[in-house]
Amino acid sequence: MRKVILVTGGAGFIGSHVVRLFVTKYPDYRIVNLDSLTYAGNLENLADVKDMPNYTFEKADITDDKTIDALFAKYQFDTVIHLAAESHVDRSIMDPLSFVKTNVLGTGTLLNACRIHWKDHFDEKRFYHISTDEVYGSLGKEGLFTEETRYDPRSPYSSSKAGSDHLVRAYFHTYGLPVIISNCSNNYGSHQFPEKLIPLAIRNIKNSKPVPVYGKGENIRDWLWVNDHARAIDVIFHQGKKGETYNIGGFNEWKNIALIYLLCEIMDKKLNREKGTSAELITFVKDRAGHDLRYAIDATKLNRELGWKPSVQFEEGLEKTVDWYLENETWLENVTSGTYQQYYEKQYEKRV
Ligand code: NAD
Ligand code: TYD
Repeated sequence: MRKVILVTGGAGFIGSHVVRLFVTKYPDYRIVNLDSLTYAGNLENLADVKDMPNYTFEKADITDDKTIDALFAKYQFDTVIHLAAESHVDRSIMDPLSFVKTNVLGTGTLLNACRIHWKDHFDEKRFYHISTDEVYGSLGKEGLFTEETRYDPRSPYSSSKAGSDHLVRAYFHTYGLPVIISNCSNNYGSHQFPEKLIPLAIRNIKNSKPVPVYGKGENIRDWLWVNDHARAIDVIFHQGKKGETYNIGGFNEWKNIALIYLLCEIMDKKLNREKGTSAELITFVKDRAGHDLRYAIDATKLNRELGWKPSVQFEEGLEKTVDWYLENETWLENVTSGTYQQYYEKQYEKRV
């Protein structure tokens, strides 16, 4: 095998797209997917590649240093693509410490394993850390986040991701560990856990349930098709320079309420409902605490230096996403049975 790559968080939303891309595109790379299978991790996401000869799954927790050490010894990884994280802002408001543990301690544990196991052989190695635009804080009406924007995280999620980014850079400057970081905007697409806005709204519209919009729906996010994020990770992994940061974004800003109206239109069409039926489900609810107003990424460095740009227009990607959720009812049922109901009630019961 030409490379032995540890992918953490490969059973989650973005991780499963990254694993699928690498396993199918690079048969001469061995891909080891390490995931502790939290509520967000789901091996069904990888059912189509699980039997490929260059794919292996290891159930493990990134904060468990002994197990991580044993897996580095077993596989002799030469590169890491680190996606495992607690990833949902609302959950971070409910339970901040689990975000500190996984995102900060977990990243530190992996960096330390690399430092120890790669000692004196740093050159061909890479630790590629997948991060978020939320570390930069909240924008006003104007401006974009660049790679030079000062960090200003404001939720327990974004501050724990910022902490992990700082640790990654500290290992570069202190030990010379060859790291790369990318910070991406909001992803959408198939296999996203229905606690995030788009799949949650699709599910509720399908079931004719209220679609909760926080505040007045004025908040703005930049949305990127998840497969385009996976393509960007592929490009940065192979061509990115060590020690560098790359912003990844869709050049695609939407106010939440405008996005939800577009989604409602698509859903009416797909479900053969009269135009306007789904929009009647829109329900304005109590705002998220500390809700960041606007995120917007300037991804020109990635385009200029490595030639990447998004491939799918938002309307097309959203329609494909809706199709996937409507065609994969069993997936949706399986992930929303069990503890999902408890989370949903706790998160939304007093808001409507
Ligand atoms: P996700 O919540 O769908 O998946 C996270 C995965 O990590 C799950 O499979 C989960 O089981 C695993 N995991 C969690 N804690 C773990 C632990 N302690 N040990 C091992 N595995 C663990 O998240 P996602 O949306 O796919 O995001 C992946 C990464 O990309 C995260 O680092 C996130 O911060 C970043 N990111 C996400 C977005 C987005 O829009 N979703 C945007 C930018 C960056
Ligand atoms: P989300 O998908 O949780 O991503 P993030 O908070 O990381 O941007 O939320 C996207 C936007 O949608 C954000 O402004 C919060 C808002 N939102 C709602 O209005 N209603 C909801 O039920 C959820 C989950 C999010």
